[in-house]
Amino acid sequence: MSISGFHIGSIRLANPLILAPLAGVTDLPFRLLAKEQGAALTVTEMVSARGLMEGGRRTLELLDTHPLEQPYCVQLFGSVPEYLARAAEIVQDMGAQIIDLNVGCPVKKVARQGAGAALLKDFPLLTRILKALRKACRVPLTVKTRVGWRPGEGDVLDLAPILAGEGVDAVTLHPRWAVQMFGGQADWTKAARLVEAFPGPVIGNGDITRPEDIPQKMAQTGVAGVMIGRAAMGNPWIFSQGLAVLDGRPYEPVSLDDRLAAALRHARLLADREGSKHAVFRLRTVLMWYSRGLPGATTFRRDVYRIKDFGELEARLEQYFETLARIGFTGEGFPEPEDPMGQADQTDSSAPAAVGLEGDLCAMEP
Ligand SMILES: Cc1cc2nc3c(=O)[nH]c(=O)nc-3n(C[C@H](O)[C@H](O)[C@H](O)COP(=O)(O)O)c2cc1C
Repeated sequence: MSISGFHIGSIRLANPLILAPLAGVTDLPFRLLAKEQGAALTVTEMVSARGLMEGGRRTLELLDTHPLEQPYCVQLFGSVPEYLARAAEIVQDMGAQIIDLNVGCPVKKVARQGAGAALLKDFPLLTRILKALRKACRVPLTVKTRVGWRPGEGDVLDLAPILAGEGVDAVTLHPRWAVQMFGGQADWTKAARLVEAFPGPVIGNGDITRPEDIPQKMAQTGVAGVMIGRAAMGNPWIFSQGLAVLDGRPYEPVSLDDRLAAALRHARLLADREGSKHAVFRLRTVLMWYSRGLPGATTFRRDVYRIKDFGELEARLEQYFETLARIGFTGEGFPEPEDPMGQADQTDSSAPAAVGLEGDLCAMEP
């Protein structure tokens, strides 16, 4: 396995690792941290074509980018071909270098508009959308999808010739049915079958939790790249470690200093972008990720929820990590059964539960 990248149309990715779009999560600060750790491509959170045409402030904020974020890839969702084509023109004028169409979001608020994964129930509409987008896009066009809406109805293998015929440059597959939401396991054998059915690059996505999963999934399926979502929350090193594993090198465990530095950097990027007052609220979630599985996390998080001042929050974060260092916790891996602070948080040491996250999704504007 190697770290060499691949082309999406005219755009060359430096390596096969991509940060997944996560609505309510992968804002610009999050994406920059992933980029700094080596992700070849990041994607905006999904942006409503209609919201974009209406010029809503929150929709426009989702399009914030930075010169480091090259190539700049915008994900659009919608169900009206003309709106999506117009949205594609707008984001290209704003510098988008790749446009991705969301054909995978199963969340009610999106699917009941006929958008996201609901397009898997209406191939004729999806075909019209792809035609309109292809005509409007001067840049590569990609699609992110699931296996299908539900078993027994059309699936992505039926869709592959349509995607190829309409000039889609690459496809990302999260191999679960839409009705599964995040239940069960992603079935990567479907990714292997899509690699055979679709002539362009296929990107596999779903349930990658450790760097070692990356070469294993790539070898198992022949995908050109992998997209990583939930495992990157509070863990941007999944990209640098993944590159090391692909290159056959051992990787360094994440030290406490690294963790503190990343959490502080995340906090400051948020404050620069949103102002320190707003950043404090957002950090309640962000610091939960960075303290996942660490001793004393419950008390730390309780304090984080109470604190309203950015400076005080930074000081509490530093103090928390100083305490961890003092008790000799190295930060290498998760706490041993004997918890030196007597209160390692056992409730969320795995990937975040999709149910809670859907709350975030539903809180988005349409
Ligand atoms: C909170 C949350 C938000 C998501 N938002 C999007 C989105 O905006 N666009 C999209 O295509 N997929 C979205 N997804 C799906 C992810 O991109 C990805 O396909 C899924 O989480 C599986 O990958 P993972 O196991 O690496 O997390 C979201 C998933 C979660 C948990």
